[in-house]
Amino acid sequence: MTPPLPPGIEKILFTEEEIQQRVREVAAEITRAYEGRTVKLIGVLKGSVFFLTELARHIGVPVKIDFLAISSFSNRNGAPGVVRIAKDLDDGIEGEDVLLVEDVVDTGFTLRYLLQTLASRSPNSLAVCTFLDRTSRRIVQAPVDYRCFEIPDRFVVGFGLDYNQLYRNLGYVAVLSREASVSPQRRRDAEKGG
Ligand code: IMP
Ligand code: MG
Repeated sequence: MTPPLPPGIEKILFTEEEIQQRVREVAAEITRAYEGRTVKLIGVLKGSVFFLTELARHIGVPVKIDFLAISSFSNRNGAPGVVRIAKDLDDGIEGEDVLLVEDVVDTGFTLRYLLQTLASRSPNSLAVCTFLDRTSRRIVQAPVDYRCFEIPDRFVVGFGLDYNQLYRNLGYVAVLSREASVSPQRRRDAEKGG
């Protein structure tokens, strides 16, 4: 018997088993790509935490971990794109092989900002691994090297992703019901920084 879905959840997009399987595949890709090196995973708080820990456990080369947190705002016209660092990394990344780990890349504004910021600190290499990718909403180009899943243009929660800080602890990824979400812009505003 499958337990009933929590309030606000419309349907499951990726089950726990599908996620485990796919994360292992991507971890194996990363292991091959970084053979003979140490990879520094940089997680963007808080959404990427569940994904990063699962990924790290299946990477077969030495792994270092650091985190940063960002906040992003809409401008006066309601357009997204203003991003700043709310909590910086603990350590420098000069000369390191950095893999930025994101929960979801949507418009690409956050990723572009983070890549510019990290690139200016002279890492040996800089690549991007995202759990989810919504390429249909991309506004600015931002390169993604590894992705687990492409998702449709619906707001999703679970496995780290939140709606008003809720649902992060779901083991699966689910579509939030339309009734539970407010207007798309307000919804995205509420979301940013997570
Ligand atoms: P971007 O700058 O538009 O690419 O925004 C990416 C950020 O928006 C992500 O790191 C999330 O914090 C948030 N976000 C975008 N889509 C979703 C979603 O469907 N669920 C939860 N958070 C989302
Ligand atoms: Mg995020």
